[in-house]
Amino acid sequence: MMAVEGVVKRFGAHTVLDGVSLTVAPGEVVTILGSSGSGKSTLIRCINGLEALDGGRITVDGLDVSDPRQLARARRLSATVFQMFNLYPHMTVLRNITLAPELVLRRPRDEVEAQAHALLASVGLAGKADSYPGQLSGGQRQRVGICRALAMNPRYLLLDEVTSALDPEMTAEVLAILGKLAARQSGGGGTTMLFVTHEVEFARRISTRIVFLDQGRLIVDLPTDQFFAADGGLAHPRIRQFLSKMAPAAPLAEIPA
Ligand SMILES: Nc1ncnc2c1ncn2[C@@H]1O[C@H](COP(=O)(O)OP(=O)(O)O)[C@@H](O)[C@H]1O
Ligand SMILES: [Mg+2]
Repeated sequence: MMAVEGVVKRFGAHTVLDGVSLTVAPGEVVTILGSSGSGKSTLIRCINGLEALDGGRITVDGLDVSDPRQLARARRLSATVFQMFNLYPHMTVLRNITLAPELVLRRPRDEVEAQAHALLASVGLAGKADSYPGQLSGGQRQRVGICRALAMNPRYLLLDEVTSALDPEMTAEVLAILGKLAARQSGGGGTTMLFVTHEVEFARRISTRIVFLDQGRLIVDLPTDQFFAADGGLAHPRIRQFLSKMAPAAPLAEIPA
């Protein structure tokens, strides 16, 4: 279980996370919604141990991310995909995926390469192993980013606005992949997901729970159907206001097997 307990994070005088508590249990797909600036990315960075906390505690399967030695072990349990793809431009797609499993997890190259090819095939990029990131579209690059995260065999997959730099068609490609991962998840298989997105309709379809961050406070944490119920999440004016500003849902693309 991933447990965020009363986390406070300040930048100077600005309290960006103000006593946030959140748990993600194995098998859950939890979506974080909230306006720009509400603290979503900061929360993800705190979970990754990239920001020192000003209060509270974060544990990943019992490992405290504020303790450097425990953090090193906690980092092996989760993988994060960010908005910008951060692929190495001078390395092939295959090498981008295999680098960390080989160097960090010390897994044998042939095993990691076989997994990378299987992952690429699963996101419709079977023929792109030897391409360079610059030869791919944004949507293809983000699909490689997802493969790179999955190649670490993470127990927890964190996704921070992975489609917000993409046009609608590419967004649809990437969401289709995440939908497949989530569906496998609800079947009891794959990776537990903590998902920051503005794709509300998509989140509604794939999430077990939705939480809403408002100015650094987590004001609602509900099972998905209750989040969208009139006497649940929609009873909150801030949430109604947020949802009313959202763009219409992106269509899902078919990804060839
Ligand atoms: N390194 C930083 N230094 C100062 N302020 C920051 C830093 N990172 C984020 N912030 C501020 O914290 C607030 C929350 O940011 P962020 O977590 O990126 O929000 P979100 O991802 O929900 O859009 C914003 O007001 C942002 O300007
Ligand atoms: Mg953000």
